[in-house]
Order: sequence, then C-alpha cells, then structure tokens
Amino acid sequence: MNKKQVTTSTIKDMKQQGEPITMVTAYDYAMARNVNEAGIDMILIGDSLGNVMLGYNSTVPVTMEEMIHHTKAVIRANGAAMVVADMPFMSYQASLADGMYNAARLLKEGGCAAVKLEGGSEICELVAKLVTAGIPVVGHIGLTPQSVNQMGGFKVQGKDVAAAQKLLDDAKALEAAGAFAIVMECVPAALAAKVTAELKTAATIGIGAGSGCDGQVLVCNDLLGFSDGFCPKFAKKYADLHGAIVGAVQDYIREVKERSFPAPEHTFKIDDEVLEKLY
Ligand code: KIV
Repeated sequence: MNKKQVTTSTIKDMKQQGEPITMVTAYDYAMARNVNEAGIDMILIGDSLGNVMLGYNSTVPVTMEEMIHHTKAVIRANGAAMVVADMPFMSYQASLADGMYNAARLLKEGGCAAVKLEGGSEICELVAKLVTAGIPVVGHIGLTPQSVNQMGGFKVQGKDVAAAQKLLDDAKALEAAGAFAIVMECVPAALAAKVTAELKTAATIGIGAGSGCDGQVLVCNDLLGFSDGFCPKFAKKYADLHGAIVGAVQDYIREVKERSFPAPEHTFKIDDEVLEKLY
C-alpha cells in the first residue's frame, strides 16, 4: 500500500475532518511490516509487550531497555504509520528530569516519533516540557495498567460524577499541555464521546471506550487471536492465529514423524558419482 507518512499534523487533520484514526500495537519487525502493509495509521509499541511478548503478569516490570529494543525492531519496518512508544513504569514518575531523559532515549535510540505516558493532570508539567522540547506526546487516561496495584484491578473507570469529572478535567489538562492524542481505556462510551467532543485539538483514541472516540487502538495479539486464553470484553478477535499456528505446527510434527517432510522439492541434490568416490 502506498500511504503517506503519518505525522502529528495528519492525526490533527483526521480529528478535524472526522476521519477515524486506526492504531494497533506491534512489538517486532515482522508484525510492524504486516500492519503497515494493511494501512494502519499509528503503531503503538505498548508496554503491554511485558504481558504478551515477555510473559510478565503486568506491565510494571517492563524496562526502558526492553522498550528501546522492541521500538528499534518496529522502526526497521520503515512504514508510513506513525510510531508511538510507551514510557514504562517509573521511567517518568519520579522526576521531570527522568521523564525528559527517558522520553529522549525512546526517540534518539528507539527511533519512534512520539511517546505515550499514563496519567492526567499530575503529568501535565512533564507533558508541556516534552512538547516544548520537540517530543510529541500521547496521553493515556481511564484505566492505566501501570497503576493497577493502586486501582485495585482492571475496572471500568469514570463511573460516578467525581471520577467522570476528573477524567474530563484530565483530558482537557493534557490537551492544554500539548498532547496531540489521548488514549482512553475502559471508559463508558457516552463519557468517552463527551470527552471527545470537548477536546478541540487532541484526538481521542479509545480502547474499551466505545465508537464515539476519534480513533481506536487494539493490542495486536487480541485482534489476531494469538492465544486461546483471556481476551478482554472490549477486544474483537478478527482472526484465529492461535488455531492456525497450533494446527500448522501439528501438521509439521506429523509430517516429520511419518517422514513425508521434507519432500523432494525441499531437498538439495548431489551427483551419485560424488557419493561413490567417498570411502
Ligand atoms: O500497552 C498498551 O498496549 C497500551 C494500549 C492498551 C493502549 O497502552
């Protein structure tokens, strides 16, 4: 697909024109090539890679080194999608200096075009500094998995007046600080639609936040059905790669056991007289 490079201006224009923005996670070169070929607008190297690629039980253990390693792999796909990398837990919470330094590492060493940070008004000073320094920022509010220990589990957010008002205030504060997009995770659809309507420049990207957002994001492993384990209510499986992979590997095991693989077409030849000369 011949798609123009997606930038922050593209995303701003898409919001103004009401054109839905598509984002998906990818964590390696092969997946990034495929989703670019499909024509995705934005790729997120989510810290969900801790769960789906590295087998951690949350995103909390993910390190800067792991984020940079996976970001570099995605960047090598060299596609048109805008590449956003997550700032992992504790890479920005302790001080403004940490946040500036680690965001710069994701751009300079990883090669991404923007960073994503979890949090609302409490991170706005950092967001403003990053944007001033030339680092585009995506916010992330609602369910913020890095704070799952404090939130007491993976729950829908913003359900009472105080929590809904805080979500709206956080979104406005992030926009005012310069975030060009804001992920809203696990938020009631009508609240996410109101936040989307209230924001004038920052595009909302929903995950479990209904269809009234400016765009949508899914974890690629959920979208592709990479596992037959737990799949969140908000995710839709567009494929059954788990079934396809297990079935293909079972076919391979059977063919090796019955010696029907490798077949002649997978095999290299040698002249008989060469073999005859061996002793
Ligand atoms: O890490 C991630 O994959 C995310 C998405 C769920 C938005 O933050």
